[in-house]
Amino acid sequence: TTATPASPNRIEHQLTDKGYVPVYTTAVVEQPWSSYTPSDHEVWATLFARQQQVLVGRASDEFLRNQRAMGMTPDRIPKFDDLNAVLRKTTGWELIGVEGLLPELTFFEHLANRRFPVTWWIRKPEQLDYLSEPDLFHDLFGHVPLLMNPVFADYMEAYGRGGVKAHGIGPEALVNLTRLYWYTVEFGLIKQDDGLRIYGSGIVSSKGESIHCLESAAPNRIGFDLERIMRTRYRIDTYQKTYFVIDSYEQLMEATRPDFTPIYERLSKEDSYAAGDVQDSDVVFNKGTGEGWLNDGDV
Ligand code: PHE
Ligand code: FE
Repeated sequence: TTATPASPNRIEHQLTDKGYVPVYTTAVVEQPWSSYTPSDHEVWATLFARQQQVLVGRASDEFLRNQRAMGMTPDRIPKFDDLNAVLRKTTGWELIGVEGLLPELTFFEHLANRRFPVTWWIRKPEQLDYLSEPDLFHDLFGHVPLLMNPVFADYMEAYGRGGVKAHGIGPEALVNLTRLYWYTVEFGLIKQDDGLRIYGSGIVSSKGESIHCLESAAPNRIGFDLERIMRTRYRIDTYQKTYFVIDSYEQLMEATRPDFTPIYERLSKEDSYAAGDVQDSDVVFNKGTGEGWLNDGDV
């Protein structure tokens, strides 16, 4: 096997008989705060200011309120220690520094213990709009504010425990559970009294998708339905074709409380749904026009 040169995003890839596969590092690292360059702080400042503007009236009230309460500011990359002082008091969560994506089981075990892994490095100035893997901006700006919400904080822990369990059941169960994470934690919308809002981290950390998910006629916006979501494939390389809308974080918590084991069992006999398909049973907020959709590439 040959290792490629360290990618700018620091996940090395190794050539195996399955092609290039990422080499995961599981180590927890101290945030090397003093090694951030002026350019790193500037990337943070630029993205932070830009998203602050875009998210007014688009992100959920809960996200915006908690973000202010955490004390993240645009002037410099936050220190994990400072955020941890606030988080520990509020919901007992803790941020830990990592190099990048973790193996599934390691990730689940951290969540189950209320530890949220945060990628310590930040994207380069030429990657402001798009990056194919999580970096510090996505992880901190996108994920951390809602960890201050007691219900969402519990949901994330429960998800971690559910992940450890699903990992023991098998790969199909994991696929179902991963879709739930994708369509809630990463790309979820919430219905407020004053309209649909964003709470998914993959959206709030992207300018383009923050606008697209709410204002474009192209995507479907459909009411949250646990098993429906677990059957739905998704996109990793384009905006989502479908967004699922929760009524409240309590709804999310309650809907995911039951034991998933019989659900996994049932779903193993059913086909999956394409990312953009609408089902008869869906509660449809918007039936997407499908404009700009690519025909293949759902995962
Ligand atoms: N109730 C789920 C199970 O039995 C665990 C879970 C909770 C999964 C919340 C996801 C989110 O597996
Ligand atoms: Fe994420």
